[in-house]
Amino acid sequence: MPKVVKVDPLNPDKEILRDAAEVLKRGGVIAFPTETVYGLGADAMNSNAVKKVFEIKGRPPDNPLIVHIGSFDMLFDVSADLDECIIKSLKTLWPGPFTAIVKKRESVPDITTAGLPFVAVRMPAHPVALTLIEEFGRPIAAPSANRSGKPSPTIAEHVIEDLGDSVDLIIDGGETFFGVESTILDLTRDPPMLLRPGPIDPETLEKIFGRKIVIPNFVRGLGEAEKALAPGMKYRHYAPDKKLILIEDGENMDICIRNVIKDFLDRMLKPCIVGYEEYKYIASIYMLEFISLGSIRNPYEIAKNLYKGLRNVDKTSADLCIAIGVDEKGIGLAIMNRLRKASGYNIVKCT
Ligand code: TXA
Ligand code: MG
Repeated sequence: MPKVVKVDPLNPDKEILRDAAEVLKRGGVIAFPTETVYGLGADAMNSNAVKKVFEIKGRPPDNPLIVHIGSFDMLFDVSADLDECIIKSLKTLWPGPFTAIVKKRESVPDITTAGLPFVAVRMPAHPVALTLIEEFGRPIAAPSANRSGKPSPTIAEHVIEDLGDSVDLIIDGGETFFGVESTILDLTRDPPMLLRPGPIDPETLEKIFGRKIVIPNFVRGLGEAEKALAPGMKYRHYAPDKKLILIEDGENMDICIRNVIKDFLDRMLKPCIVGYEEYKYIASIYMLEFISLGSIRNPYEIAKNLYKGLRNVDKTSADLCIAIGVDEKGIGLAIMNRLRKASGYNIVKCT
């Protein structure tokens, strides 16, 4: 059995996190909750420790990690040549579910940034993550704590399922708050470019940075050509083993969903539905398994339930599953980016 310790997410026991920090000081690897998803952390400045993170996750070495900091002093330890205006904007966004790509300092090992001269930095808002970094006193490199290709973990059980005994310690702080990974903005480009949509939407970023930002097609989970800009984007992600078909949000959704279901049933294929309470009745009509992501009216609830829902796809007895899309505004952009990838671009459009 892996070593798991439970902590109160809002008021974590410092002693427990001090012991966890000791594991990091010895070059160990621990899973811990952040406000977005669980991370798999190691000392960002210790190449051997970071190497273990890549091995445990089965992560390709050309896919860099996010360096988690607990203060602006730590930001200056890992980044170089930051402009005052950018620092001011970062002070508005941090701590929070936002990652900045900036120029890296020499001292950050190449393995952490996969050889890039830039580093991804984030100051998480979760009390467990922040206290852990504080107790450790150094930045923590942490990708999401899933096996490469699987949906990110939003509860400790997902980490146990994917990585089990291979980590030195799992800190169980209950369910994460947002359920999708941080928004990533590349600040080394002019104008800045969104590399991954997340809880902080593009409109908010434009207000905070006081300028237009570029939103490439791959951010919507579409457009193959630009994928190489964010190394992680080129890998298959969030995908269940079972086939998943995504119905994009559009007109006459109820009829469109029913038609897609009927089409599969005619071919003797029994689908499950990954959707919203408002569509549950359709699953009942056809007696299909239904995975609820919450109400269509509450996109934050949908984001929070998304990865648990995708993991449950493989637990159904269905032949395949049909996921239902949402409007792309606000956090909806992040939800659609994850759903399009999870579907392997098997997309049905309703007209
Ligand atoms: O919410 C989050 O960001 C979570 C929690 C644990 O903090 N972390 C997370 O890490 O999602 P990960 O490794 O699963 O995703 C990081 C993404 C990858 O797509 C990676 O390619 C990209 O960030 N990335 C990291 N460093 C980069 C860099 N220097 N330039 C461009 N993209 C970078
Ligand atoms: Mg990840």
